[in-house]
Amino acid sequence: MQIAIESPIDMHLHLRDNAMLRLAAPLSAETFAGAVVMPNLLPPVTDAAAMEAYARRIGAACGPDFRPWMTLFLKDQGERELLAARSFSNFFGLKLYPAGVTTNSGGGVLRFDRIGRTLAVMQEMGVPLLVHGESRGFVMDREREFLAVYRSLAEQYPGLTISMEHITTAAALRLLDEYENLVATVTLQHLLFTLDDLAGGLLRPELFCKPVVKRPEDREALCEAALNGHPRLMFGSDSAPHPRSNKECLGCAAGVFTAPFALQRLAGLFAEAGRLENLQAFVSGNARCIYGFAPPVKRVVLTDVPFHIPALYRGFGESVVPMGAGEWIPWSVSAPLPGASACG
Ligand code: NCD
Ligand code: ZN
Repeated sequence: MQIAIESPIDMHLHLRDNAMLRLAAPLSAETFAGAVVMPNLLPPVTDAAAMEAYARRIGAACGPDFRPWMTLFLKDQGERELLAARSFSNFFGLKLYPAGVTTNSGGGVLRFDRIGRTLAVMQEMGVPLLVHGESRGFVMDREREFLAVYRSLAEQYPGLTISMEHITTAAALRLLDEYENLVATVTLQHLLFTLDDLAGGLLRPELFCKPVVKRPEDREALCEAALNGHPRLMFGSDSAPHPRSNKECLGCAAGVFTAPFALQRLAGLFAEAGRLENLQAFVSGNARCIYGFAPPVKRVVLTDVPFHIPALYRGFGESVVPMGAGEWIPWSVSAPLPGASACG
């Protein structure tokens, strides 16, 4: 069996910087035509100049055929800052991180009542808001507790497109259906795994991310929505490479690395459910409809020939353990693609 996917887009991607960028970015560019790039570098990308410079470094790492839609880390930017950002054609939106809830989010938002001016300008300019939706509560309840914030944002700013990033629960899906200005992304790991996979047996650091994978009924609800072609649910891998030494240590960093084979794994998932016809919308069509994206033309042919996930991705002095390291997945890209060296 084969399927051709036109211009796949990853709606939530961490590309990092320096050596890790040089390792990770080409691996995304092998199968994706473009991605929405997260701004949580250290220091975070908060203004137009830093964003343009970062986009140039991404371009240098993966070439002109991969389009990075750039985001700014939401602080208290006003009209002047947003106008400067908007003059850059790859500018996409602002990412809101509640302070301290995930990797490199220390400079995020502490009080939601203090960002009204920024949100009002974004609404006026038609700039989307992307949100890491977690409270600081008990880890399994953080997304559910944050839903009240989404609800109030959706009501206060009806003209603002608000993306609930990497949703993990059935409750978030129900909220998505309540407000037309809400959209959502979902990752591969939240479609495939639950807390049992992460911590039910031997701990699997390569599956640890924020928000953590949830309950079986949440995973099932997310799968049903993705596989049935929910028009406001988009694929965002949240692929977030961390050096192996920061994952397999005391104090495992949050982030799952999936970019090199995310599309192949999704094809397996959709094929298994008999829903391959909905994959194109999930990985590209919905984002094009919602945001009017025009990604570079790229055709990726996927086939049901098994692919062996390397134990480690290595290059430029970095090494990253991917999700499902050393395992086989049922689908692959039909022609081998050149890329960084992989071991194992
Ligand atoms: C991301 C990272 O490592 O940058 N980590 C993660 O667990 N998802 C940040 C994020 O998106 O939360
Ligand atoms: Zn992320």
